[in-house]
Amino acid sequence: MNKKIEFPKNFLWGGATAATQIEGAYNVDGKSLSVMEMIPFIKLKDRKDLSETRNLTTQDLLDSIENKKGLHYPKRYGIDFYNRYKEDIALFKEAGFKIFRMSVSWGRIFPNGDEEEPNKKGLEFYKNVFEECKKQGLELMVTINHFDMPFPIIQKYGGWKNRKVIDMYFKYAKTLIDEFSEYVKYWLPFNEINLGVLFSAMGLEGDSNKKTLQEKIAGTYQDLHNQFVAQAKFIEYAKNFDNTMVGCMVADATTYSIDCNPINVFENQQKEQMKKFFYYDVMTSGEYPSYSKRFFKENKIEIIKEISDDQLLKNNTIQFISFSYYMSSTIAKENTEMTEGNLMKMGKNPFLVATEWGWQIDPIGLRYCLNQLWDRYHLPLFISENGIGVLEELNESNTINDDYRIEYLGKHFEQMSEAIKDGVNLFGYTMWTPIDVVSAGSNEMSKRYGLIYVDYDDYHKGTGNRFKKKSYYWFKNFMETCEI
Ligand code: BG6
Repeated sequence: MNKKIEFPKNFLWGGATAATQIEGAYNVDGKSLSVMEMIPFIKLKDRKDLSETRNLTTQDLLDSIENKKGLHYPKRYGIDFYNRYKEDIALFKEAGFKIFRMSVSWGRIFPNGDEEEPNKKGLEFYKNVFEECKKQGLELMVTINHFDMPFPIIQKYGGWKNRKVIDMYFKYAKTLIDEFSEYVKYWLPFNEINLGVLFSAMGLEGDSNKKTLQEKIAGTYQDLHNQFVAQAKFIEYAKNFDNTMVGCMVADATTYSIDCNPINVFENQQKEQMKKFFYYDVMTSGEYPSYSKRFFKENKIEIIKEISDDQLLKNNTIQFISFSYYMSSTIAKENTEMTEGNLMKMGKNPFLVATEWGWQIDPIGLRYCLNQLWDRYHLPLFISENGIGVLEELNESNTINDDYRIEYLGKHFEQMSEAIKDGVNLFGYTMWTPIDVVSAGSNEMSKRYGLIYVDYDDYHKGTGNRFKKKSYYWFKNFMETCEI
């Protein structure tokens, strides 16, 4: 018998995507390339680990522009959302979604970053998409920058370390809210802002191997500070618009101590401070927390600020918290068995099972995380990503009986419902993903997260046709009945 769980009537259920993973059309209507679209596909069996696909030199990036090596760059093709968005939005509506989270590609709006005027063709595309969502009665949550800074900004200005990029981001973000405030209520200035530190440390800005690890880490905190400032400027401007809420997006993953040894328990607390709370703390209070000052001092990290930065951060904090949650881990000690995680390896937990990609499934960890965030910040919470990536093939009836996805979602929903009973103010959830997309971390099409199957393989071969999986119907029924 199905079990009934409780959710508020106005809970915002929906799905989440990102421009570089769905749109394709990388070279039309004036769009520039982002670094994400310059990472080649390497077959799983041919690569040692994911970092191989990321340690790119500036020369690799330049060679990729005209594809001199004849490689395949999956994020240039996505799932052809650019041309099929009407069909996809209709499917989301039919599934019963109330909200759709998507991102705008910076390189469609300001291809070089420093133009005076936005690219009209880019604005026109998003206006059409937003109109379609409005027509279908879908609320919108828009990520302004989901891992896709235009490459020309990195090439000419060196990326976030250059304060001129703050102004370029602000001009871009301001253009979006000026143009689209009537369609979009929820804005997320950056996707998984805490992973930016990893990205630049991993070489996505080119030539990272020329720097020492200490230099990379110090540089990434400077990049981050500039992103905090850019976000605060946007929040300040967004106050001119009614019916608008600006939130954050942090990659969360509950971490546990390896055992009850106080040394390890405290080490876990310190890891949590710098890997997650630091980001929420700065964005909710507008101040760098005290533990971060010690961390910076001990790691010889000096953040260069302008005099007005502190006040700007203080006056412009976020209005709600959103986060992604896929897995949990334990802290990694010497000799800890490791497993894969989102962009980095993590400590293995013997009490949990993992996906084919090594991501450890932990629904109770989600309840734990929701309680932690609510207790600490008392701001409305929104789960902006959660889901499971699996190798899947269509069966003879042109569908997929993805009971594992149904189980994954059901167990997470149950814990969300428990967290709401605990008193947590959770107001919405967008699953990753309503439709199969190109994987952000591994560039594979075959790591499928969708409720809807897309007929493309890792090399973008296929019809691109969409097929509903069993979970599509299950999710639709769940939103109507709250039965798992
Ligand atoms: C999050 C990102 O890190 O996780 C998404 O915001 C991403 O862009 C998702 O796709 C799942 O990760 P992956 O690497 O399996 O695609």
